[in-house]
Amino acid sequence: MKKIGVLTSGGDSPGMNAAIRAVVRKAIFHGLEVYGIYNGYAGLITGNIKKLEIGSVGDIIHRGGTMLYTARCEEFKTLEGQVQGIEQLKKFGIEGLVVIGGDGSYRGAQKLTEHGYPTIGVPGTIDNDIPGTDFTIGFDTALNTVIDAIDKIRDTATSHERTYIIEVMGRDAGDLALWSGLADGAETIIIPEAQYDMGQIVERLERGHKRGKKHSIIIVAEGVGSGVEFAKQIEEATNLETRVTVLGHIQRGGRPTGSDRVLASRLGAKAVELLLEGKAGVTVGIQNNKLVYHDITEILKVPHSIDLEMYKLSQELSI
Ligand code: F6P
Repeated sequence: MKKIGVLTSGGDSPGMNAAIRAVVRKAIFHGLEVYGIYNGYAGLITGNIKKLEIGSVGDIIHRGGTMLYTARCEEFKTLEGQVQGIEQLKKFGIEGLVVIGGDGSYRGAQKLTEHGYPTIGVPGTIDNDIPGTDFTIGFDTALNTVIDAIDKIRDTATSHERTYIIEVMGRDAGDLALWSGLADGAETIIIPEAQYDMGQIVERLERGHKRGKKHSIIIVAEGVGSGVEFAKQIEEATNLETRVTVLGHIQRGGRPTGSDRVLASRLGAKAVELLLEGKAGVTVGIQNNKLVYHDITEILKVPHSIDLEMYKLSQELSI
């Protein structure tokens, strides 16, 4: 293999730049040429492709977002789109591809491999919802962004003695809600992976209020429903004054944390190693602090799960 390509796809996540840098530098270290595919699969279809040099990825390791830009591309889900993409890869002489993104991006990578094009998936999403890895690139940064926001909300929540409902991202996954809730001592964490009982939530709030608690924090993962709806239900069931904060896309931006930069560097470099070893259709990951890889088709079959022990602990600590 002499020439490889790299693209980022789907929702961006802090640390994607560090992963791109690792792919480019590791490949050049091994004597390969590297091509950046801009705007994800959309740029692959149109041939928005440029050669990257060592300097092309200088001064990006600490920046959020992705220097290659990204997109959610419906067209690449069609056979026609995939064939167009492969034609572009052939035109540039690119023999293998690294795709950095979430499960939607992995589906594109799986299709490319099925068409005989060696592709490696690198997990980049703030949702932490990719099986086969303990952590995805960007999760740690997003988690710290959420914690920072909740710390601030706590101050004003205490001053006004209010109940705050905070809606965090995670399309179908509760990891951001669960980790931030545990880190911030939330009264209640509502996530798609666990049943919740509104009666119990109200009871817990009222118990805390009677005990003299100055504020309450409830974290809702967006996958369960709107924070505004939860707030309405709580106001109707209690006399507590509530406010809602939807954290939104601030969770996706910002400087990547040290952990995300290191994770991205390790996973990006590993993807290049795997291509050099002749691997195709696999995803890289980190499990028990060891770099691992798994078949992409198998990974796409595994449903996302959360650490139920952690969820139980969060309930025990917020009695
Ligand atoms: O997948 C990452 C994510 O940030 C989800 O948490 C969220 O539901 C979604 O992307 C938002 O997507 P968009 O930026 O396209 O609105």
